[in-house]
This record gives sequence, structure tokens and C-alpha cells, in this order.
Amino acid sequence: MYRTHTCGELRKADEGKEVTLAGWVQTVRKFGSINFVDLRDRYGITQLLFGEELNGQLDENPLGREFVLQVKGRVSERSNKNPNLPTGEIEIKVLSFSILNKAVTPPFTIQDDTDGGDDLRMKYRYLDLRRNAVKKNLELRYAVNRAARNYLHEHDFMDLETPFLIKSTPEGARDFVVPSRMNAGQFYALPQSPQTFKQLLMVSGYDRYFQIVKCFRDEDLRADRQPEFTQIDCEMSFVQQEDILHMFEGMIKYIFKQVKGIDYTEKIERMSWEDAMWNFGNDKPDIRFGMKILNLKFPAYTFPQKENRSDLIDGVNFQVFDSAETVLAIAVPGSSETTRKDLDLLTEWVKRPQVGMKGLVYIRYNADGSLKSSIDKFYSEDRLLEIAKAADAHPGDLILMLAGTEERTRKAVSELRLEMGKRKGLRKETEYKLLWVLDFPLFEYAEEENRWVARHHPFTAPKPDHIEIMIQHNPAIEDPAHYLKHPYAGIKANAYDMVLNGNEIGGGSIRIFQRGLQEKMFEALGMTKEESMHKFGFLLGAFEYGAPPHGGIAFGFDRLCAILGGSESIRDFIAFPKNNSGRDVMLDAPATIDDRQLAELSIKLDIEKK
Ligand code: AMO
Repeated sequence: MYRTHTCGELRKADEGKEVTLAGWVQTVRKFGSINFVDLRDRYGITQLLFGEELNGQLDENPLGREFVLQVKGRVSERSNKNPNLPTGEIEIKVLSFSILNKAVTPPFTIQDDTDGGDDLRMKYRYLDLRRNAVKKNLELRYAVNRAARNYLHEHDFMDLETPFLIKSTPEGARDFVVPSRMNAGQFYALPQSPQTFKQLLMVSGYDRYFQIVKCFRDEDLRADRQPEFTQIDCEMSFVQQEDILHMFEGMIKYIFKQVKGIDYTEKIERMSWEDAMWNFGNDKPDIRFGMKILNLKFPAYTFPQKENRSDLIDGVNFQVFDSAETVLAIAVPGSSETTRKDLDLLTEWVKRPQVGMKGLVYIRYNADGSLKSSIDKFYSEDRLLEIAKAADAHPGDLILMLAGTEERTRKAVSELRLEMGKRKGLRKETEYKLLWVLDFPLFEYAEEENRWVARHHPFTAPKPDHIEIMIQHNPAIEDPAHYLKHPYAGIKANAYDMVLNGNEIGGGSIRIFQRGLQEKMFEALGMTKEESMHKFGFLLGAFEYGAPPHGGIAFGFDRLCAILGGSESIRDFIAFPKNNSGRDVMLDAPATIDDRQLAELSIKLDIEKK
């Protein structure tokens, strides 16, 4: 037997027991004629005491960091206790030891605050995974996985696997493709999600499906995106939107309870997509804090139902605002005393290419009620006060204003709001705020492709009272200019996203389940009948054999784990992640393949092999 106990198990109550432990040498400390060794495994660290009598053997077999060591010994109370360690009251007086395997010096120290940079840690990820910090993340991931499974199992969901070698599924990214040797010149696509399969399972009558499943998307990577990532993918039959929201509010609350011990008892807020864009400038607002946008000026077509407040800024000949399509403002609480230097730095911040603004206008609403602004020359104090009031500012606040084109300015103000929220300590890691964003537009105009695309995916149903409009009108052929000018209006989808602290952690929709409407949708997206048959004939066919009404959702499993673990980067929560260029630096993949393999696949490369 290699071990009787783990390195995290023994306590004072075990004193006197003869035990065998096995693990990795964390540190060796010489103390006069005796040696202390910290032995580590997945469960913890136990201190070993090598007495003088073992020095001869130690001289012959010196121990080093990360050696795999087995010791037999007796549990004894420590004189010098370590209250920070669960095993800190005891140590093992070693009777005999055996080195199970030696280790070369690791390229970085395996401890919480390691000296290894990102690339080095990724290259030796198997060593990085030994570190407590990473292990804790993977333990949390497993806890989320278990909680989700338990909940779904309790609610009659069935875990069903779906294939990886498939045909393109349209989730809006590029496909990863796999050449087929047996079908020369033909390729499989890896699923961007199991979307069409889960819908087919509904047609087959498996009315509650789930799968914790890998998805593959060839898209630009960010801290919260990986080319292969995991979804908690779910689908249900005979449901309306409300049933789905209810079921998955239950799941997320269960996960909070099981994983974090948090009773999320408050009602999960709901917000229309339009209100999210209007008040927060993006479709996944962080609602842990206010700082809502004051929409001073915006193009009439963007929010036809909303009130324009350009009266507050017009008529003084201030060219920056007069010539801008959009002018937006936020009031940052308690910041009127921000120094000139900090305001200059903030201006530089909004001018960075990532934000892309030309400048930043500010109004200080001083604690004594006076107002001071970078646009004093143009606006009277009374006018500044009106703007401040409209922005819901109070004495002591700082109003920040941005002007430019609609899309860019709205995005910039949303980023500025998040940044100011962070700087003001309003985005606390330990506070969790869930939100449903509802009523998304069904279509989105893809400028570069010059055509309409499905905002979610083409299987999403329009809102019931918008179905008729969709059948009557075809946005692809009818008055494209009108729709082009209404990117925020038009037909709304029966779709929903779950947002946690400003991150989209899940998204789904009620699906189209009638062939006619699905064909109409493909047509609206500019597909010919032949094209839609070629790509989705299987689904259109299935809809003719008794497809039930259905809908579903998929949660970004890695993202959910990262947020619950208090991190912005999902990489820390994936055992073997890819780097920012989509590479696995440990395996050194992707890599070239040899000529024989290429020949077997009937592939000729158009570039020189690296
Ligand atoms: P969607 O494309 O919104 O929906 O994806 C669902 C959730 O998956 C997460 N996610 C990602 N996580 C890490 N890296 C990525 N590259 C990445 N892309 C997406 C997000 C997102 O909310 N089939 C539909 C679901 C449905 O309609 O039921 C789908 O895949 O957290």
C-alpha cells in the first residue's frame, strides 16, 4: 500500500498512529542536525521530521523539490504549531522513507505566488496544475459541474451526447473543419454548439435534454473566450419563455447555494434589450451599480420611442456637440474633486484605440453646488446645472460626456461607465447580481457582408406578435434602407440572455418549430431554397414529422466558473487552455502534418510548411 492517509488528513487526534504518506516534496529545511520536509498532495501539506538517525540515508539519497516521496512514520504533536495549516498541529516523525521518483528542478516555484510568467506556466501546465491556486479553480469547476448535473437530473433532464464530426452549425463564428480521409475533398465541421441536434432530440420526444459539452469556435480570442469551451447546454419541449426562465433561475440559484453557499433569494431582474442599450450602452449591463447614461442626443432612428434631450446642449454653437451624431453622459458619484491630472489621464484613456473617442468633456458639480466645466466657455452655469440634474447628478459628482458616432459613442460610454465603476469600488467581486436581458432584435445587419444575419441564430422564433410581420415582410428585400436605419427596432426575438455582473453567462431562445416559418427565416437571411435545403434539409424535414414547440438555453460553463471564482480570465478555470493566439504551448499545437498524411487526405498546401 502506497499510503494510509493523505497529506491533508491527519490531526492532533491521530497522535501516536503509525502512518504511511506519499506525495511531492514542497520544501526541505535543515535545522541543526534534523531536517523538516513539507510533503504535498492534492489534499494538503503535512510536515515531516527527519531525525538525526536518518542523516546517513539522506546523504546517500538527498531530497529535492518535487521528488515523489513515500514515508513511514508516527504522528506526533508539533512544538511549533502552524495555525494556517489544517494539519499544522502535528508532524510525522519519519521512521523510514523511500524516493519513488526524482525530479529535475522545476522551471518555476510551485507555490501560490509563483515566479513563473504566463507562457512558462502554460508550457509546463502539468506543474502549474500542482499549485494550490489553480487546483482551487478546478475544484470549483467540478463543484459547478456537479451542482448543474444534480439540479438537471432532479428535474428529469437526460444527459445525451451529440456528435463532434458534423456539418456547419451557424452560431456566428467560423467553423473549425476536419478533412475526411474516406471522403476525399470533403470536410466535417466541429460543432459551434449542439444546437440542431438538441432540437432534433426534441422532435424525437426526449423532452428535457442537457449536456455539459465542448463547443468549437474559430473567433478572435479575449479573456472570456477560448476556441474550445464548454457549455451547459439544455433544451425543453412544450415550454414558453417564462417556463425556461423559471427553470434556469432555479438552476443558477442552486449552483450559487451549492458552490458558494449563497442564498440568492432576490428576484432576478429583467430588462429589455432596448433599455439595456439605452441606459447602459450594452446588452450585458453590470447592474451592481447605477450610473445610468443620460442620452442627450442620438439619431432619431435608433430609439424611436425615446425622448431626445438635445435641448440641453443645442444653441450655443459648440461644434463638438453640434456636429456629433450622439452625445451621452454619465454622472460619477463623489468624484467632483478629481484632479486635473487625473482628468487628463482619463481623457487619454478614452482616446485609446480600444475606446476610440476624440476627447472627453467634464462638468464638476462641486459639493457647494457650484459648477465648473471644460466647456464653461459655451455653457452658462445654469445650463450646466440642468445637464447635471438630467444626469441625476448630486453635488460632489463628476459628469463625463462623450460625443461621436452612435455605435462607437455608446460603446465608449458603456466602457467608461464600467471603468469608473471599477475605480469607485462599485464592482465588488463578492457581490453577485443576475439579470435577464430580453426582447432582443431577431435580425442584425452585417455591414461587411451587406446582409441581414440572425442576431442569436436562425432557429430563434420571433415574438408571437411579430411572427405576422415577419411573414408579411421580408427585411432582406423590403425597404432595406428603412431597416438599415432601424438597427435597434424592428422584429423582436423570443430570446433571452442571462447576465452576471456584466458578463453574458448564458443565452437561448424559443425555437421555430414549423417548417414554413423556418423556411421564411432562411429566406429573410438571404438563403435560396436550394441553399437552405442543402444546409438544413434534415431539420426542415424533421419539422414535418411532428415537431413539438420547444426552446432552450446554453450557459458558458467556463465563464460561470471564472466569475464565481472571482476572475476575469476563463483560462484559469480550464485544465489545459489555449493561449491568446489559440495555441497549446505545451503540445505546441496546431502543428504541421507530414506529407503522407496530407496525401491520404488528398490535400495540397498552398503555403510553405513552417
Ligand atoms: P451562445 O452562442 O450565446 O448560444 O453561447 C452560449 C454561452 O456560451 C458562452 N460562450 C463562450 N464561452 C467561452 N468562449 C467562447 N468562445 C464562447 N462563446 C460563447 C457564453 C454564451 O452565453 N446554441 C446557443 C444556445 C441556445 O440557443 O440554446 C448558443 O450556443 O457564456
